[in-house]
Amino acid sequence: MSTGKGLALVNLDESGVDRDFRADVLQGLSEAQKAIPARWFYDYAGSRLFEDITRLPEYYPTRAETEILASRGAEFAQLIGPGRAVVEFGSGSSVKTPLLLSAIEPSAYVPLDIAGDFLRASAAELSAKFPGLPVYPVEADFMRRVELPQEVGDLPKLGFFPGSTIGNMVARTAVDLLRTMRQTLGEGSKLLIGMDLIKDPEILIAAYDDPAGVTAAFNLNLARRINRELDGDIPLDALRHEARWNDDYARIEMHLVATSDIAFTVSGRQFRMLEGESIHTENSHKFNRRTGNMLLLAGGWTPVQRWLDDKARFSLILADATIPRSAP
Ligand code: AVJ
Repeated sequence: MSTGKGLALVNLDESGVDRDFRADVLQGLSEAQKAIPARWFYDYAGSRLFEDITRLPEYYPTRAETEILASRGAEFAQLIGPGRAVVEFGSGSSVKTPLLLSAIEPSAYVPLDIAGDFLRASAAELSAKFPGLPVYPVEADFMRRVELPQEVGDLPKLGFFPGSTIGNMVARTAVDLLRTMRQTLGEGSKLLIGMDLIKDPEILIAAYDDPAGVTAAFNLNLARRINRELDGDIPLDALRHEARWNDDYARIEMHLVATSDIAFTVSGRQFRMLEGESIHTENSHKFNRRTGNMLLLAGGWTPVQRWLDDKARFSLILADATIPRSAP
């Protein structure tokens, strides 16, 4: 396994504050509808809390997608074939990635992630499980085009983007990412992508507002992180977790709602929230066959095959970078 280039992708100021985090938070708290990008959930505590979410009885996506990966190996092998370099967008899960790799006889595995520590830890774990497989972790922001290691330059690629992480993005950003992935992966590539499905809003809301309060803790951890890293004094006990279904946009939204009028400071700047006002912290878009296909096509990918779990809650789609010549 190569160790990558060890590039520092985190941009810290002289006092060790992440400049991008501060800029996103100060900008987001200044808007009429306060909003902070969901990527900032994932500090160490947030990543641990997300792991806990994936084990909740109400949070079905991880289990449903794992079920598909575990049961469709023969079809993946047939449609994808051996000898590809699997390029995973994100560090990889210790459960899902091995299921895919053992099904298709890949020639290399290239995990891409912005967080170097997680990347190296999961790459090492993977190398131990697949001793014969070359693993080339790349520390990179996959929202931009990535230069893949020259060792995989001549291999056909399979992009792997599980978890319905594409659903975190609004359509315009999702299309940009799909097009960028196509550039990163190149001619002749394929993409295996997870998309959570539109379903009864009660089931969706339960998945994002569990009775044990783990998702609430995950959401509130963002405010705790702001207080700690950006010298904030947001009163956590005056914020309540809320999961809403936005039917027009087919998405779950997570908000932190003020339970009383509050004022607070972050990085020396003052902010106020009236009772009932919220900070919008996450979108999780849901899809059906047509909207999923439309999104992929808009991003330059032609859907080839689609699999659902037994209870038809989640979809995994194989798509091809070859755009069919079709009239007009
Ligand atoms: C990791 C983005 C797929 O949207 O379902 C889980 C994150 N947020 N519970 C999702 C999440 C609240 C998750 N993704």
